[in-house]
Amino acid sequence: MSRHGIITDTDKKYYSGSRDMKYIIANFKSNKNRPEHEAWMKVFRLSFPQFAKGKENLSVVLCPSAPFLSLTSDILREDDDNENVHLGSQDISPFPAGAYTGAVGTKNLEDLFVSYAIVGHSERRTYFHETNNDVANKVREARLASITPIVCVSRETISSQANALEDADRAHVMVAFEPIDHIGTGIADTLDDILKVRVLVKEAFGDVPFIYGGSVDPHTDKELLTHPDIDGFLIGSACLDAREFIQLIHLVS
Ligand code: PGA
Repeated sequence: MSRHGIITDTDKKYYSGSRDMKYIIANFKSNKNRPEHEAWMKVFRLSFPQFAKGKENLSVVLCPSAPFLSLTSDILREDDDNENVHLGSQDISPFPAGAYTGAVGTKNLEDLFVSYAIVGHSERRTYFHETNNDVANKVREARLASITPIVCVSRETISSQANALEDADRAHVMVAFEPIDHIGTGIADTLDDILKVRVLVKEAFGDVPFIYGGSVDPHTDKELLTHPDIDGFLIGSACLDAREFIQLIHLVS
């Protein structure tokens, strides 16, 4: 892995044309304190490696809250057999290193082996008033640091967000379709709807990995979970219990 980690084998494989990679991205949001996060990691480490053995096309991305990135990085590096597991940040500063109190920038993430960053999540857009331009700046910062941005969009922001990105950045992101009405509601969007949006995303961004997020859990329709045109899932509530998360990984991969 590189210092930040974009040159992971999984990325190399994806961008070199393998179309069957499945990404399962755990977004812990502002949940868990340190003992709870350590307990989660303990359960995950006990069960995940045996299950993942030989599954080269499975990429699990753990996005803990910022205070636990360092801890998670250290824990992941204790194991040699977790090449399917990567570290992601839930957000990233739109600014370079400097006087930006409270912001976590790419400089702060150096040497933590952060490979991915979620940007433009609807909760950031709603509660922190982030705009498409803010997201574009975050994408630029991430890319400069060789971190793969996972750009979240709703149906309404697909084309405006794609247009806000620099041409050079647009083809190097992953796009997560996150319909606001389906986040945290317990009811995922329909496969039909998701596949229609996938077409719009490919038109606007090009042939980038397409992720779906919004109430995905082990009860989600199996056809949706295993559909070959969906490159992965962004999981909120259903990642908080490590056993439920691993069960979900079983169903997807
Ligand atoms: P949810 O969250 O799985 O709890 O709906 C998904 C997300 O916000 O990424």
